[in-house]
Amino acid sequence: MSKLSKNFFWGGSIAAHQCEGAWNEDGKGLGMMDLVTSGSVNQDRIIVDEKTPEYIFPSETGIDFYHRYKEDIALFAEMGFTALRISVDWSRIYPNGDDETPNKKGIDFYIKVVDTLIENKIEPIVTLYHFEMPVAIIKKYNSWLNRKTIDLYLKYCETMFKSLKGKVKYWATFNEMNHIDAKSNHSDFFTYFVTGIQYSKLENPVQVLATCGYNMTLASIKAISLGHSIDAENKIGCVFGLTPTYPYSCNPKDNLKALEITFRDFYQIDAMVYKHFPNYKIREYEELGLDFSISEEDKLAFEKNSLDWLGLNYYASEVEIDKKDNSLEDAFFGGVKNPYLKDSDWGWVIDPDGLRYILNLLTQKYDLPIIITENGLGAVDKLENGKIHDEYRIEYLREHFKQMKLAIKKDHVNCIGYLMWGPIDLVSATTGEMKKRYGFIYVDKNDDGTGDLTRYRKDSFYWYKNVIETNGGEL
Ligand code: BG6
Repeated sequence: MSKLSKNFFWGGSIAAHQCEGAWNEDGKGLGMMDLVTSGSVNQDRIIVDEKTPEYIFPSETGIDFYHRYKEDIALFAEMGFTALRISVDWSRIYPNGDDETPNKKGIDFYIKVVDTLIENKIEPIVTLYHFEMPVAIIKKYNSWLNRKTIDLYLKYCETMFKSLKGKVKYWATFNEMNHIDAKSNHSDFFTYFVTGIQYSKLENPVQVLATCGYNMTLASIKAISLGHSIDAENKIGCVFGLTPTYPYSCNPKDNLKALEITFRDFYQIDAMVYKHFPNYKIREYEELGLDFSISEEDKLAFEKNSLDWLGLNYYASEVEIDKKDNSLEDAFFGGVKNPYLKDSDWGWVIDPDGLRYILNLLTQKYDLPIIITENGLGAVDKLENGKIHDEYRIEYLREHFKQMKLAIKKDHVNCIGYLMWGPIDLVSATTGEMKKRYGFIYVDKNDDGTGDLTRYRKDSFYWYKNVIETNGGEL
């Protein structure tokens, strides 16, 4: 099948708390993921108030990207990456959240990483918030429930926009803030990842989620205006984790249910594309009796700007049914199991067509440039004699690339890049494991703490290199 455009971004995505380690080095403050223990597919990660020696906190060491970024970026360059999405850990820059001045060593680290990327002809794409808020903000200001947090976030964004001006053009304001919609299937995890607040501890969760969701959306649009004013060249987007939702049958009621679940993830994008907080959401909040109003000043903030691009994190699809009977099995991400699709070892349904579906849906709704900011397969890899034969990963990616290409070539979706999640093995966000590996590069680190962190090229490393070399021509 034909090649993609020559400017297409081929690369990967990583997040600070999952790879950097060095959790208390060079003035870094405590970040929210520093308080989350390791877990597994059967054992939930635990969120603690304070670190205690009985638990393992995988973010403490990550894969030591903080000290090995040069080696890792050289490997990405060897594969031919033209883009890498990283995140800045807010707690490295403002360790207490409300510090007068930023931590210079934290800024210097990201300048060094970005400079190394540029030297290697890799476009840096920087996420400003990927589950990495200083714990001090949660404790002192109650996270996104307090509008003071918007000011602190904007001050941090300004520091980063200015520090990386002229080097970074592509920014994402937030990663997956859509997981906290008042209508979502709430899990302690995703609420915590996004806000640092634990869902199960809330007395009035719907109010809290609505307020946090609104404040983050406002913070995001204000950050876009700020970033554009600092450098008109900046292209500022926001990253969403989206799951296409299919009706279980052609029963119209199943269809309506699927539609409802699909659209719960879109109000923040609507607000940032259509330049006003959506009226349907305002009516919903009124009906729920929430304490919610939008000031004239906020309205102006929404009117002033809009997203330059959309980031899509795509892993799985869902199936919804209006009335579930006991013969149907529950699916990992909600809804019921899809009889046509297989699951990964972690129960995540594998659906390459879903990628084409969601790319089309986004295009029909917004017609913006889209970067696939995450996609990939978490699997158990076996290291034998320095080799990892991960044909299953190649197969997964090949099928997704075929659908991505169809979306671009046949459906005219303006998808400008593909960034594979975790191009180097890193700590899993949902389970805290190393065992759930995504990478083209194997990292010798195990969940029991053994391993010497040596990096190995997997078979998929060479395969992806060829995909990039042929610009998607050979899959
Ligand atoms: C996304 C997150 O939702 O899923 C990443 O943005 C995360 O941070 C990825 O790592 C995959 O999830 P997991 O649990 O397999 O690491």
